[in-house]
Amino acid sequence: MGNLISISDNTTLIGADPPATVRAPEIEAGVGCDFDSYLLVPDNSLDDRITTAKARLRNDVVILGHHYQRDEVVKFADFRGDSLKLSYQAAEAQGSYIVFCGVHFMAESADILRRPHQMVILPDLNAGCSMADMADIGQVEACWDELSSLVDPAKIIPVTYMNSTAAIKAFTGEQGGSICTSSNAAAVMKWAFERGEKVLFLPDEHLGRNTGYRMGISLERMIVWDPYQEFGGNTPEAIRDARIILWKGYCSVHQRFTLRQVERIRREHPGIRVIVHPECRFEVAQAADEIGSTEGIIKAITASPAGTEWAVGTEIHLVNRLGKEFRDRNVISLDPSVCVCTTMFRITPQHLLWALENLGEGHVVNRISVDERTRHYARVALDRMLSLR
Ligand code: 13P
Ligand code: SF4
Repeated sequence: MGNLISISDNTTLIGADPPATVRAPEIEAGVGCDFDSYLLVPDNSLDDRITTAKARLRNDVVILGHHYQRDEVVKFADFRGDSLKLSYQAAEAQGSYIVFCGVHFMAESADILRRPHQMVILPDLNAGCSMADMADIGQVEACWDELSSLVDPAKIIPVTYMNSTAAIKAFTGEQGGSICTSSNAAAVMKWAFERGEKVLFLPDEHLGRNTGYRMGISLERMIVWDPYQEFGGNTPEAIRDARIILWKGYCSVHQRFTLRQVERIRREHPGIRVIVHPECRFEVAQAADEIGSTEGIIKAITASPAGTEWAVGTEIHLVNRLGKEFRDRNVISLDPSVCVCTTMFRITPQHLLWALENLGEGHVVNRISVDERTRHYARVALDRMLSLR
C-alpha cells in the first residue's frame, strides 16, 4: 500500500502499484497538471489527442460512460450503460485505471467495487448529483434514531438508491439493507420485504413511491420523511402504520416533467408512446405507457417497430442520441424545453483528455477514493444488490 494524501474533505488519494505499461503514477489532484491550458486545445484536435492518449495507455485504462454524457465524450467509452450496468462493468473491469465519465456517486461506487490494484478517476470533480446531495449521513442517522424510538429497527430495512454518498451506502450495509438502481428497485424492495416489515427508501421520493405502488403498496402506507422536521413531519401513528418511508429527495431534472406535458403531447401526437424514467413524479409515471431506467428506455425504443412515435421523459442527451440513432422512429423529449443534467454535462472532452494525458505521463489526477471503513459496509450493501442479478 502506498502513501496516503488527503486533498479535500471527501477525497483521499491512496498510492497503489503502478501498471506495467505506464510510468509509476505520481498522484496529484490536478496540482501542476494545469487543466486550464486544456481549455485552449482546439476543438478539431481533441478527438485525435484523446484517441492517441487512450491508445498509449493500451489495456491499462477502461473508460466507462453513462448514457447522459455528451456525445463528444461518450463515444470514447469502452462501456456505456445505466448505473446498474456500469457498476457490473466497474466490478469486472480489467484496466488499472477506471476513468468514469459520469457523476461523483457513480465513481465512488466504482471505487468501492474495484480491485485492489485499480484506481478510479472522475475527469471533473465538480460532476456531482443534486439528488445525492439531498441526503446527508448525519440526517440519515438522526432519522434512524427517531424511527428506532417508535419501531423495532430490526423490522426496518434501508433500501438506498445508487444516487447517494458512500457514507449512506455504508450506513445501509451496516443496518442490513441494500443498494438499488432504477433498473432493479422492485427486486431489491421485494428482497427487503422478505426481511423486514418496513422499508426506509433513500434518497429519491419518486423512485420509492413509483416502485412501491407498482408492487401493490397503497399511497396511504407510504409516508414522506422531511429531514428538516421532527419525525420527518409525521405523527407516530403514521410512522407505525407505514410500509415505506420515503426520504424527501428528488432529481431536479426528472421532477420537471409534468402531467400537463403528457396530456399535451398525447393531444398533439395521437398514438405516441410515452416512456419516462422512474425518478419522475408519481402522476407522470402513472400517465406514461412505460417506465424505464435509461437502459430500459433504450431497450423499449430499440424493440419498437419503425414508425413508432416516442415521447421520452429523461435527460436530453440520451433522448437526442436515440432520436439520431433511430431516424425511422420519431423520438422526442416530453418536455419541449431542454432537460439537461448540468453535472453530467460538466465532463467535457477537455477533461477526458486532461485525465488521459496525465495518466500517460504518470500523473493520476482526480482520483476518487473511499476510506476503508466506509468501503467495507458500502460494499456489503452493493454486493447485496449485485447478488440479485
Ligand atoms: P439510471 O440508473 O437509469 O442510469 O439513472 C441514473 C440517474 O442518475 C438518472 O437520473
Ligand atoms: Fe442526479 Fe438527476 Fe443528474 Fe441523475 S439526472 S445524475 S439524479 S441530478
